[in-house]
Amino acid sequence: MIGSEQEKRAAAQAAAQLVGDGQLVGLGTGSTVAYLLPALAARALAIRCVATSPETERTARALGLDVVAFAGIERLDIAIDGADQIDPAGWLVKGGGGAHTREKVVAAAAARFVVIASSEKAVERIGPPIPLELLQFGVDATIGALGEVALRAVPPSPDGGLIADYHGSFAAPAELAARLDATPGVLGHGLFPPSLTAEILLAVNGRVEHRLVR
Ligand code: 5RP
Repeated sequence: MIGSEQEKRAAAQAAAQLVGDGQLVGLGTGSTVAYLLPALAARALAIRCVATSPETERTARALGLDVVAFAGIERLDIAIDGADQIDPAGWLVKGGGGAHTREKVVAAAAARFVVIASSEKAVERIGPPIPLELLQFGVDATIGALGEVALRAVPPSPDGGLIADYHGSFAAPAELAARLDATPGVLGHGLFPPSLTAEILLAVNGRVEHRLVR
């Protein structure tokens, strides 16, 4: 197993220990979360889980985790997910797997949103590409308004949105996030502000750093 895979597994296994019996748990998406699911299943806790993607739902169910519909649930006790970039202030870029819109809803519903990552995800400064999910209706007008956007050659999200990436430069993540939030046709974007995240578990040099964000 190469270094970054060992780090992903170490961060995921540490996060699995944060989950308590009886909790409602949000499950993220991606290769780091793929290490979380068996670690969580191995604890054999009486938990119910909400999945952020069909892939996570399938894998979690196959491991015996109880995956329930998000409808009817207002708050999750904890949600655990990976990230593509993490800056020193706690801004994240997510959506490498295209699940960022659902992942943000789950993170916002969680009392404790925990990010798990290998060391190369820590960056001095967040940069493009920034994942987007765009409404199919009028997508060329939305892309024209944003500029420097490339659609990904992937199927639409489970909610029907088109997955794309913003490749333009920007001065600060907050500035771009505000612009994307204010652009009609943008259903979601992968910039997660520090206010969403409670903790980051970053595996570095064989140990897992546990950083409190808010
Ligand atoms: C999926 C995500 C992932 O959490 C992010 O891309 C990190 O993925 P990985 O753990 O595979 O490096 O946001 O939409």
